[in-house]
Amino acid sequence: MEHNDQKPLFLLFCPTATHAAPGGGLQSPHPDSSFYPSIAHNSRRTYADIMTNLDNSIGQIVSALSESGMLKNTIIIFTSDNGAPTTGSKANYGSNLPFRGIKNTPWEGGVRVPAVVWSLALSSEIWNGLFHVTDWLPTLVSAAGGRVNKTLDGINQWSSITVNTNSRRKEVLITIDDEEGFAAYRRGDYKLVIGNVKNGDYAGTKLMALRKVMPAYKPILLSCETANIFNAYLKISLNITTAMTKRNATIYHNRTDTVNTPLCVPTLEKGCLFDVKRDPLEARDLWNSSPDLVRQLTLRLRAYWSEMIPRPPLKRDNRSDPALNNYIWSPWDSQFEEVQTQPETSPIFPLKITMGELQSLVDVNFHSFSNNLTDYLRTMSDTLFRSVACLFYNSTMCYKSYGNIL
Ligand SMILES: *[C@@H]1O[C@H](CO)[C@@H](O)[C@H](O)[C@H]1NC(C)=O
Ligand SMILES: *[C@@H]1O[C@H](CO)[C@@H](O)[C@H](O)[C@H]1NC(C)=O
Ligand SMILES: *[C@@H]1O[C@H](CO)[C@@H](O)[C@H](O)[C@H]1NC(C)=O
Ligand SMILES: *[C@@H]1O[C@H](CO)[C@@H](O)[C@H](O)[C@H]1NC(C)=O
Ligand SMILES: *[C@@H]1O[C@H](CO)[C@@H](O)[C@H](O)[C@H]1NC(C)=O
Ligand SMILES: *[C@@H]1O[C@H](CO)[C@@H](O)[C@H](O)[C@H]1NC(C)=O
Repeated sequence: MEHNDQKPLFLLFCPTATHAAPGGGLQSPHPDSSFYPSIAHNSRRTYADIMTNLDNSIGQIVSALSESGMLKNTIIIFTSDNGAPTTGSKANYGSNLPFRGIKNTPWEGGVRVPAVVWSLALSSEIWNGLFHVTDWLPTLVSAAGGRVNKTLDGINQWSSITVNTNSRRKEVLITIDDEEGFAAYRRGDYKLVIGNVKNGDYAGTKLMALRKVMPAYKPILLSCETANIFNAYLKISLNITTAMTKRNATIYHNRTDTVNTPLCVPTLEKGCLFDVKRDPLEARDLWNSSPDLVRQLTLRLRAYWSEMIPRPPLKRDNRSDPALNNYIWSPWDSQFEEVQTQPETSPIFPLKITMGELQSLVDVNFHSFSNNLTDYLRTMSDTLFRSVACLFYNSTMCYKSYGNIL
């Protein structure tokens, strides 16, 4: 590693390893892999093989950091940008179970991902707070001792994570998809999904099939490159009981929710509302039983929808070809191109407005309108009084007394 270890380092490594190739299919370094004989599904074996290589490449980064002496003072974050595309033309055979949905959907399987934050300065905890991808910027600036002095979408959550306190985030606009016409919004534990959403099933069960007994996890964990480096450089030896306890605590075991439950899918008349803390499998729709929550969350989502700037049609640009960029995906356009003309109309909010929503809109606006009306009448009567007063005086008098208004 050529980095001068006296200077701070920000390294963003975005491997595309488990991504399906354009046109479909996984590209394994061992195409005829006999690795992972326990896994029954052919492509799932390839996926596991690629994942092992990804794991090794993370080990090489940790190794480089330890050789340069920087590891002790480094924060490592490992996270994903979305759930797996389990099925479809760009399937990679990853599984988001037990969650509903896949990549490109607003279901938990598409948008909820685990993350690991490692630093020698942190004690080991599982943090379950609400965190959005935009929070990384202010959180990491804060971790590095800096301060963000402008308003961002992201929220600094460094102290929430390190002290293991509640999330500072109250809401997330999960998505507005102007092409497909769907949206999802979360406030606290509640999540609203509306519009034309597909692929909301529990996908991937078949991929999990085994043909042999799974190998023991412990020796694999203890022999991985990162474990070796931690051992050699930091004198940290993994306590397997602690590791397994934590691993178990991150697994959602209660799948009784899904038995015999017809899954909610939004229509133009009705969306879906879930308590994703108690029901992360999005199996129990609360729409009909929680009209107040539905109204509040829908109104908020309507407000966000109204601020949407629709995307122009996507177009392919050959300059982005990784073959032209040393096979690295990176910013390839040094100039920002002029934004194309926007479509003239925004897509319509994919849910009919309810009487309840109308009522609260009227209530809110009438409340502020009636306040303003009082102010308005007060000013009016003052003006009116002065105007009428002028009728009874000669114009000079009127000018003298009321010159400012006439
Ligand atoms: C915010 O930080 C930038 C960079 O340090 C600085 O140039 C700017 O003056 C700061 N703005 C305010 C309002 O403090
Ligand atoms: C691992 O952690 C557990 C629980 O904290 C503890 O009881 C055990 O002694 C530890 N094992 C080793 C080898 O340190
Ligand atoms: C983790 O869960 C597995 C399966 O439920 C169980 O057999 C094991 O004892 C658990 N391990 C720990 C350390 O909690
Ligand atoms: C599991 O889910 C069922 C059905 O929703 C619920 O009644 C039960 O309390 C849950 N159990 C736990 C341990 O959360
Ligand atoms: C981009 O590349 C494709 C495939 O190689 C080719 O068919 C197409 O003509 C190229 N487009 C432009 C604008 O160069
Ligand atoms: C009432 O006045 C306030 C402050 O001038 C303004 O922001 C608000 O939009 C007004 N409300 C209506 C209903 O006109």
